[in-house]
Parts: sequence; C-alpha cells; structure tokens
Amino acid sequence: MQNALLTWYAQNHRALPWRENRDPYRIWISETMLQQTTTTAVIPFFLRFVERFPTLNSLAAAPLAQVVESWAGLGYYSRARNLHKAAIALAAGGGFPQCHAELLEYPGFGPYTARSVASLAFDAPVGVVDGNVIRVLARVEGQDWQWWQGKTRARIQERADAWVHEVSSYTMNQALMELGRTICLPKAPVCGLCPLRAQCVSWHEEKIALRPRPKPRRQREIWLWEPQILIQRQKILLRKNLKVPFLRGQWLVPGKARRLKVKPATFDYRHSITHHDIFVTLKAPVLKIEEHDKWVRLQEIRQYIPASLVQKAVDRAVATR
Ligand code: ADE
Repeated sequence: MQNALLTWYAQNHRALPWRENRDPYRIWISETMLQQTTTTAVIPFFLRFVERFPTLNSLAAAPLAQVVESWAGLGYYSRARNLHKAAIALAAGGGFPQCHAELLEYPGFGPYTARSVASLAFDAPVGVVDGNVIRVLARVEGQDWQWWQGKTRARIQERADAWVHEVSSYTMNQALMELGRTICLPKAPVCGLCPLRAQCVSWHEEKIALRPRPKPRRQREIWLWEPQILIQRQKILLRKNLKVPFLRGQWLVPGKARRLKVKPATFDYRHSITHHDIFVTLKAPVLKIEEHDKWVRLQEIRQYIPASLVQKAVDRAVATR
C-alpha cells in the first residue's frame, strides 16, 4: 500500500518552490502559510517572503512591522508575530533543532508545524496530521473518527506515525498531503486516479462521501448589541467586557447585549464573531463613567480593539456626529 503511494508521488507530485531543497527555514515558512490556504494561493506570498527574508537570521534581524507587512493578505497576524519571535529564539540557539519535541518549545510551533519541519527537513520518523491527512487516512482505513476530539487526534497521530514507519517520512508525509490536495478531495474525489483505491476500505464500502465525518457545527446564536459610543476631545470611552459573550475579557465600548430568538427587523449593521450573529444598533450615550473605564485616543483604538465589530460602530458614530 505504501509503495503504491510512494510511486504515485514520485511520478505525479507538483514542483513547488518549497520542495526545491530541504532548507528547514523555507519548509517552516511554507508549512506555516499552507495551514491557511491552498498551495496555489501560497506560492506568491512564499516567494515574496523568502526574497525579503531569505534566511532565519535575516528574519530574526528584521523589525516586526516589516514581517507583519509581508504577511498582509494571509490573515491570522498572530502567526506573523509568532514567526518573528520564534526566528529570534531559533537564531539565538544556532538554528533549528531536528526533533519535533524540541521544536514544539518555540512560539507558534504546534503539533503540525513541529512535525512537518522535523520530518520534511530532517526525516524525523513522525507522521504529519493536517486536514488532508485526516481525510486520506479516514477513507483508506475506513474510520469514522471524531477527529475534532483530542483523544481521537492522538489515535490519528498514531496511525500517521505508522504510515511513515520504515519509509522516508519526508516523502510519505508529502505524498499523503499531496494525495489529499489533488486526488482525495473533500467534495469530488478523483478515485479513478487514486493509487490507494484497491486498498481503500471506504471505496469498497461505498462510504467515501461519508468520511471523514463532518465536525458538528455549533448552533448559531442571534444577538442584539446596543453599544454606546461616547467621544470627547477625540477620545473614546472603553470598558472591559465582562458580560457580553463575544469578545469577553477584552476592551469594548460600553453597551448592552441581549440574545434574540429571531433577527431584529431593523438594525444599523450586522457582524459575525465565531457562532455569534450580532445585530448592532447604536444608542445615544447615557452613561455613568465607571472606575475602571479608560479613555483612548480615536486613532489608537485599534491597539485596544482589533475587532471590526467595534471599528464599524466607531466609524458610524464619528460619521453621524
Ligand atoms: N500541504 C501542506 N504542506 C504540504 C506539503 N508539504 N505538500 C503538499 N501539501 C501540503
């Protein structure tokens, strides 16, 4: 079974810029980017990034703002910040450790990144588990895994480790991911071209479309939020959000929120945060200032609240003043 896949990979894999060599730095950058989007979308970002920061040391020496700027368009800016932090720590330690357990100690290195760098750069004998690999293994091995649960993830990791046993983990991990990205697709898999079809349990059981199981969706909640935007001398009043369930614990403008059964008939704008569907109606401020409230300059609000839910409310309040 493994041989069929390795032969297929040798003949069919795509030439991608991070496959040109085994440089752990390039592999790390590409794997971090690939967690967010498709290979074709990543290529231009990757090429621009490694041109600007060609080595671990150059990334470590760069100002954070430049790194964040080079990440623009990829989303999840915390990844860019972690990348920079990890680069500084790795450079200070003389480069990349070869073992995934050591890599896990660095900022932003989760089980996926640590294992992909260890195996793709250094051939460490560990399987890499991402959404593609889960899909391929669930189908080939005929498993109805609840893959979103921690204990099942450990089981899947064991299976992925078994797949790289006694073969090159560099080649096998990439082959599994490549199969998931090009043949064993979520919606319209191309089983006619699959090197594992003869052994694929789900193919024989006609259960390809049922595996992997879909993660149960959290039920969406409708909320009405009535922020009160108080602006004086170009400063806005912020209050720590201890009650409203979205953005809890963060700085927010004061206001009330209430859960609704149906969407309200009128509202100023609508915004979603995770499973909260939020309908916003701005209220004129009638506020008692509380002890821990904070006045923040309008231009600096993004440093306190990066959420566009709030920025939209502030923009409207400013426009209608
Ligand atoms: N997805 C993430 N990393 C990959 C890799 N190295 N090869 C194919 N698909 C991937």
